Amino acid sequence: MSRTIVLQTKSLSKKFSDFYSVSDLSISVKEREIYGFLGPNGAGKSTTMKMILGLLRPSTGKVQLFNQELSGNKQEILKDIGSLIEEPSYYANLTGLENLQIMQRLLGLPEKNVRESLRIVRLTEHQNKLVKNYSLGMKQRLGIALAIVKFPKLLILDEPTNGLDPAGIQEIRELIKSFPKEYGMTVLISSHLLSEVEQMATTVGIINHGTLLFQGALAELEEASRIEVQTNQDARAIRLLEQHGFSLFDNQSNKIQLIDDHKEKVANAVELLVENKVRIYQVTPVRKSLEQVFLEMTSGNQGGL
Ligand SMILES: Nc1ncnc2c1ncn2[C@@H]1O[C@H](COP(=O)(O)OP(=O)(O)OP(=O)(O)O)[C@@H](O)[C@H]1O
Ligand SMILES: [Mg+2]
Repeated sequence: MSRTIVLQTKSLSKKFSDFYSVSDLSISVKEREIYGFLGPNGAGKSTTMKMILGLLRPSTGKVQLFNQELSGNKQEILKDIGSLIEEPSYYANLTGLENLQIMQRLLGLPEKNVRESLRIVRLTEHQNKLVKNYSLGMKQRLGIALAIVKFPKLLILDEPTNGLDPAGIQEIRELIKSFPKEYGMTVLISSHLLSEVEQMATTVGIINHGTLLFQGALAELEEASRIEVQTNQDARAIRLLEQHGFSLFDNQSNKIQLIDDHKEKVANAVELLVENKVRIYQVTPVRKSLEQVFLEMTSGNQGGL
């Protein structure tokens, strides 16, 4: 089933003075999916989300939402988007209910949206408490309530579980999971933890140093396994394989790791080595957990911090 694309960025880049915070980023989010936007601190997640929301102007590239260009149609497009970027913003000296009512009146929404969003984030019983007396988890839930009060088509949540305990994370995860089914929403959610999105995201985009490293279903990522070959002349074997166009995984050790995209390719590689009198001791599949794949992809992240 092919679904409508709700959000697309095309070669989106943002340059801050002398470096690119986001570089040539093209992501695509389909209707009613939960898209997990993953990357370590400083990877460029918030910068990307701000460009999608028109809060930051891209240096190059463009954003398309609901099949329209963001630039030029901002007001109309943003009506259908709810967002929570970085910290929730609210009036601490007002109650949760009052905060939502302000938003509701500002946006000209029906009263019932306020009650409904408080119910969804389970804040009804705390609605008359001042927000400054809310726990961190309650504040975070209020942030989500403020983002969904207009029941948007697209919900953009930037690390909504920041600072929550495992039970709080679980609760918010369950909540977000229900949005596409219950309210027809499409969700773009960022996180630096794979474990946080892997149970809810249908698609993930992995970003590091402003560059998209992977986009697809998590299952595809797991399948991207490798074959390790042990020989009596590894350096020469690597040269031979590279000369013949085999893709090798550069793991900075001197081990030979073929990218296992095709069984025949593995057989051909072995044949090539044997023909060239390289002795083969072992050919072993290397299966990685999702967590390992993610960590390897995003390791060595110093630059962005
Ligand atoms: N206004 C700005 N001026 C200069 N540099 C900026 C600005 N905003 C962000 N950056 C830089 O861009 C890079 C990406 O930042 P961004 O906030 O997008 O990362 P992130 O993936 O959201 O990280 P985190 O997980 O820590 O929230 C960082 O190196 C950051 O310092
Ligand atoms: Mg951020």
